[in-house]
Amino acid sequence: MSISAPAKAYHLTTFGCQMNQHDSERMQGMLESLGWAATESQGDADLILFNTCSIREKADEKLIQYLYEARMVKRQRPETIIGVGGCWAQSVTEEVFRRFPFVDVAFGPGQVDKLAEFLNSDSLSAQGYFEFEGFTGHLPQRKEKTHSAWVQISVGCNCNCSYCIVPSTRGREASRPSEELVTEVSELVAAGVKEVTLLGQNVNSYGRDLQDGGKTTFSGLLRELDSIDGLRRLRYTSPHPKDMKEDVVLAHAELESVCAHIHLPLQAGSTSVLKAMRRTYTRERYLDRVDMIRASLPDVSITTDIIVGFPGETEADFEETIEVVETVGFDGAFTFIFSPRRGTLAASLPDSVPHEEKVARMQRLLPVVQRCALERAQRFVGREMEVLVEGTSRTDDARLRGRTSGSKVVNFDGLAKPGDLVTVLIEEESSLTLGGTQVLAEISR
Ligand code: SAH
Ligand code: SF4
Ligand code: F3S
Repeated sequence: MSISAPAKAYHLTTFGCQMNQHDSERMQGMLESLGWAATESQGDADLILFNTCSIREKADEKLIQYLYEARMVKRQRPETIIGVGGCWAQSVTEEVFRRFPFVDVAFGPGQVDKLAEFLNSDSLSAQGYFEFEGFTGHLPQRKEKTHSAWVQISVGCNCNCSYCIVPSTRGREASRPSEELVTEVSELVAAGVKEVTLLGQNVNSYGRDLQDGGKTTFSGLLRELDSIDGLRRLRYTSPHPKDMKEDVVLAHAELESVCAHIHLPLQAGSTSVLKAMRRTYTRERYLDRVDMIRASLPDVSITTDIIVGFPGETEADFEETIEVVETVGFDGAFTFIFSPRRGTLAASLPDSVPHEEKVARMQRLLPVVQRCALERAQRFVGREMEVLVEGTSRTDDARLRGRTSGSKVVNFDGLAKPGDLVTVLIEEESSLTLGGTQVLAEISR
């Protein structure tokens, strides 16, 4: 009788955006296919792994704190492997081994598969993998949810936003062929997935780099995916305002699965700040894109990202941001204080705005964002809306939680399980969530 060796344990901490969360699913899938098992505690892990982000300074600081905690584990159990993947690793490359000599393996976002190579080798010395190789997605995934999935349609970013570290951590844009994406989404749907979110740094420039035979536009891709039977909801993030064209809006209007939500990052409401940010659109062009969207899709939810306190942002510039927020009336916004990132142009710009002033501006912006979101949410009250159930409400165990097509979280009384599509009568609203009661007679699955 042979006794199989206990599985080796890994502990993974993920920072950053959905792209990183998706990469983590691939890391987990790959590790589990190699016989590793997840553990809840770093103290029990044979491999302590971090999937890192470097978008703002705070992300770096948090990681460094975690790394020192991992070092404590390694001091007690020196055979523990410490691995660092993702954007922060890519932004420092080999420097990681000088600054943190207890790290055994480091790899960029495009090199997830190299982790397996390292773990399968007898290497005792620290190894770094930082080449850009396009998509390394053909790895098994371990998905957290059964009814929703991410699908990465492109890697990298060809934009040149002066504040942003992503082009240097994720490389040039490379689209995956549409046939491959159709196959991937079909397989997910066959396995029970109802909602797919397409991921890319600039999704609507998708396909421009594909060779002649495989040329597809982003709206063309939406059409191909919408025709997959059983796919109920199709989302994407993020489009760039410069590339937000009529064909994508038409796809929203015509295709049943494409959700009623567009996340359109504004960043700033002043044309001169947008220019310094190298966003390649003006305030007017952004507002024109919103008008174009609203003319065809009056009910679509529009959300955004805003950076406050970009170097040189004047009081008048900031007021223009507030004005655009009010004019558009966003359904929600992620707001960030500018954070200088190494190697970016904006990090070297003279900055006359003191930090306290930036914080004060943020505190003026937030209530405006919240008020607009609340006003927008009011339109849903009294309506019966389709909700994809995600699980139990986070605020009340007796209620359920799900999401509308417009991406609003709904806490509701009802009887359903995760993955069900149910009808909910909306009875209350806040800037972030809706509340309601399931219309039981009309459950559709
Ligand atoms: N590719 C996506 C988003 C990438 S990062 C897009 O362009 O929409 C997500 C958000 O982080 C950005 O939209 C921006 O608002 C914010 N961000 C990026 N770099 C930043 C920095 N240096 N300081 C503050 N916020 C930043
Ligand atoms: Fe960064 Fe701009 Fe690319 Fe978004 S579009 S990832 S903000 S460089
Ligand atoms: Fe995402 Fe952070 Fe990288 S936001 S792309 S993980 S720098």
